[in-house]
Amino acid sequence: MRIIGISGSLRKASYNTALLRKLVSLQPQGMEIEPIRLNGIPIYDGDDEKASGKPATILELDQKIRAADGIIIVTPEYNFSIPGGLKNAIDWLSRGKSPLKGKRVGVMGASDGPIGTARSQYHLRQTLQSQESMVMPRPEIFVGNAGKKFDSEGNLTDDDTAQRLTKWLAAFASWIENKP
Ligand SMILES: Cc1cc2nc3c(=O)[nH]c(=O)nc-3n(C[C@H](O)[C@H](O)[C@H](O)COP(=O)(O)O)c2cc1C
Repeated sequence: MRIIGISGSLRKASYNTALLRKLVSLQPQGMEIEPIRLNGIPIYDGDDEKASGKPATILELDQKIRAADGIIIVTPEYNFSIPGGLKNAIDWLSRGKSPLKGKRVGVMGASDGPIGTARSQYHLRQTLQSQESMVMPRPEIFVGNAGKKFDSEGNLTDDDTAQRLTKWLAAFASWIENKP
């Protein structure tokens, strides 16, 4: 089972990219998660699209998503919503035949706030609805107070979160396999 894991954060020391790394280390047998960051994608501009088409970064991401059995989006919360960089990537991908259409998607996120990207994840679910993506309804993962759950090297140190991630991955694999 090929899975593309997308971090919604561009920064190197991101909690969300760290969470994605943890998912890779916990991937169950038969699942292969390829982690991806969204750095270097230009802001969507219809004139640029008309003149030069989609940027190479988006064409590559499009192909990877199309070839995958599912994707996992691990997103921060910026001002009660998803970061502009993540929305921008989805906007580019949505042009023409979206690779997100019918795609199985899992969402989760980490933030310093107490509710761990709940608002952001629900905005992301709304955006993915526009793509007709199949977003796993539950279980949900909200990693709040992230500063207390990762060490300075970006390793997850919270056992409870690690256990939840393991269960979540098993649920995601079975949800993809069984296509309910
Ligand atoms: C522009 C901006 C807006 C933010 N807004 C929120 C917010 O609405 N809710 C929240 O919990 N954290 C918010 N934060 C704090 C982020 O949770 C924190 O910076 C987190 O580390 C970002 O994720 P990352 O570590 O993966 O980059 C915001 C951070 C930035 C830079």
